[in-house]
Amino acid sequence: MSAGVDGRKRRWRTAIRRSIRHGIKIHTASGQTPRRWLIGLPPANVFDPSQGVYGRWFAGAKTNSCYNCLDRHVQAGRGDQVALIYDSPVTGTVEHWAYSRLLEEVKALSAVYLSLGVTKGDRIILYMPMVPQAIVAMLAAARIGAVHSVVFGGFAASELATRIDDCTPRLIVTASCGIETARIIAYKPLLDAAIDMAHHKPDHCLVFQRPQCQAQLQPGRDLDFIAEIERAKAKGAEIPCVPMAATDPLYILYTSGTTGQPKGVVRDTGGHMVALQWSMKHFYGVGPGDVFWAASDIGWVVGHSYIVYGPLLNGSTTILYEGKPIGTPDAGAFWRVIAQHRVSVFFTAPTAFRAIRKEDPQASLLARHDLSSLRALFLAGERADPDTLVWAETVLKVPVIDHWWQTETGWPVAGNPLGLGLLPVKHGSATVPLPGYDVQILDDAGHPVSAGTLGNVVIGLPLPPGCLPTFWNADERFRTGCLEEFPGFYKTADAGYIDEDGYIFIMARTDDIINVAGHRLSTGSMEEICASHPDVAECAVIGIYDAIKGQVPAGFLVLNANVSRETIEIEREVVALVRDRIGPVAAFKTVMCIKRLPKTRSGKVLRGTMQKIADSLEWKMPATIDDPVILEEIGTVLRARGFGRQPHPA
Ligand code: COA
Ligand code: AMP
Repeated sequence: MSAGVDGRKRRWRTAIRRSIRHGIKIHTASGQTPRRWLIGLPPANVFDPSQGVYGRWFAGAKTNSCYNCLDRHVQAGRGDQVALIYDSPVTGTVEHWAYSRLLEEVKALSAVYLSLGVTKGDRIILYMPMVPQAIVAMLAAARIGAVHSVVFGGFAASELATRIDDCTPRLIVTASCGIETARIIAYKPLLDAAIDMAHHKPDHCLVFQRPQCQAQLQPGRDLDFIAEIERAKAKGAEIPCVPMAATDPLYILYTSGTTGQPKGVVRDTGGHMVALQWSMKHFYGVGPGDVFWAASDIGWVVGHSYIVYGPLLNGSTTILYEGKPIGTPDAGAFWRVIAQHRVSVFFTAPTAFRAIRKEDPQASLLARHDLSSLRALFLAGERADPDTLVWAETVLKVPVIDHWWQTETGWPVAGNPLGLGLLPVKHGSATVPLPGYDVQILDDAGHPVSAGTLGNVVIGLPLPPGCLPTFWNADERFRTGCLEEFPGFYKTADAGYIDEDGYIFIMARTDDIINVAGHRLSTGSMEEICASHPDVAECAVIGIYDAIKGQVPAGFLVLNANVSRETIEIEREVVALVRDRIGPVAAFKTVMCIKRLPKTRSGKVLRGTMQKIADSLEWKMPATIDDPVILEEIGTVLRARGFGRQPHPA
């Protein structure tokens, strides 16, 4: 094993000792106390390179994530502390849930799960809006050792069906509706359609009925969430935490891959807790009792790690915000929440700040609120453009910290660690790799590049605790997709560079993934859908610059020669098709018919050049282009639609 790996192990042993000092309980199979076990730790017990795709962390150790998020704090006498603040401007609700109340609800739901025959290792899909019951559902699954898989509410029925078939849940937990600003979105019809489409059928669906919309329950299959919880409480069953191997899966979270089939990122139990606990204190600088707010959605990794598990493991107070940065009711919504709940550290995506800035450029709504509790703002999910970052610094007058990570890693890869002490800020950089991560930049042949040179961003194996061990039921896909191209490294599929001071700059993706309002979407899967329209001969989807969302998808369609219908009609149908198959979250609204696609002589579509034309960036005529005139044609169509006129800020 290389010195680098030993160094990382040493750093991790220190991190784990600190986690245990903060109370995280991990027990070995042999029953040794964690402290003794760690101090006399044979390296193989920390990281076993013989297990899994690239090795496994803490093989042989036993623990339970729900215990460490809830029972531990209640047993330590902190049951009355607020664990969760539910702030929902869309329903006019603010609720404070103490750790003891959250535990009580989780125990009751665990009893319901068991009564429905769900046991350790079974999967439960959660298709839920931003309500506390979603968090209860996650933790109750963790309590009994079931593996949860949360599906974001903005995905369509067919995306849900794909996930149902991939992880074959025994149970689906849902709600009657989600609320998007003023629009009520009934979830049950989407769920029913998904179950109809899927080959796998769950035994039961538990439906949380919201007053805004009552769902029709299917007798025999569907059960009322609230009634079942009440029944379990009346029985008073005490459901203990099931001991889990540290290597057992806690959850599966699907994320866009380069094909239409999403990748089921597996999160293990032990490494996840150790990494999140470490990051809460040493990276985000948040202590027990502090109010930490990640304004994301539980359907994304940010929601999993920093609305649910991280803050609760840390004994902090988390906020579940069912609203938007603007429109619920205005661009002062974030400032209101920070002031009202005395938020110490706030985390969101740059797109939210761009939206606020557009509505209220002078941040005049901020003056109405007391933001003195706020110590820092963390931004992630997409590149924090320096312009937005500087605006946020100016209006908030606290450190604004860009940090970079992805669903696969589960916690930050690079950032400026507030908890350890801030390093000087370089705008446009996510600062430095965090302990445990060996980040390198390689050229396409796998050779290291010099400082300041753009290349493939890779992470040396083994990945630190908390990162994915594999994809669900797809070790080979993980190996070939992420580990094979650069042997000894995990390929992040991001492009970037490290400067002479070791600061990392993440600039773009190297695959067909685009980032729309902090949401990761595959243009490849959108192309598959466009191509399925009977009038479309071929197509290309690219991400083009958007001042608020960073990027939005744009589709280019070449129609079959015999099509005589109005092109606008076909464009509308294709937009509807993508919305119907992927969901509104795809933000697929721009589509245009063109005569031909620009291609190389070997037939590769020149998507990169099309994107540069659309964004008014400098571009060179590719030497291998088949017919240069096609690019002129594309430029004309784009300009007619208002694109490609203004250069966007780099
Ligand atoms: N359920 C159902 N539909 C949803 C949804 C959900 N949970 N979340 C979003 N949608 C819908 C929206 O209503 C919208 O539909 P529309 O096309 O009919 O208007 C569509 O999906 C796109 O949503 P969104 O990307 O949120 O765009 P928006 O225009 O509604 O709002 C922002 C723009 C910038 C305010 C919003 O994207 C935002 O708050 N972003 C914060 C970033 C974030 O949380 N990122 C997560 C990673 S950290
Ligand atoms: P997701 O898995 O949805 O969290 O998306 C992860 C991807 O978002 C990364 O691979 C990057 O492409 C992008 N990303 C996330 N955070 C940043 C950041 N701070 N800077 C640049 N890109 C980012």
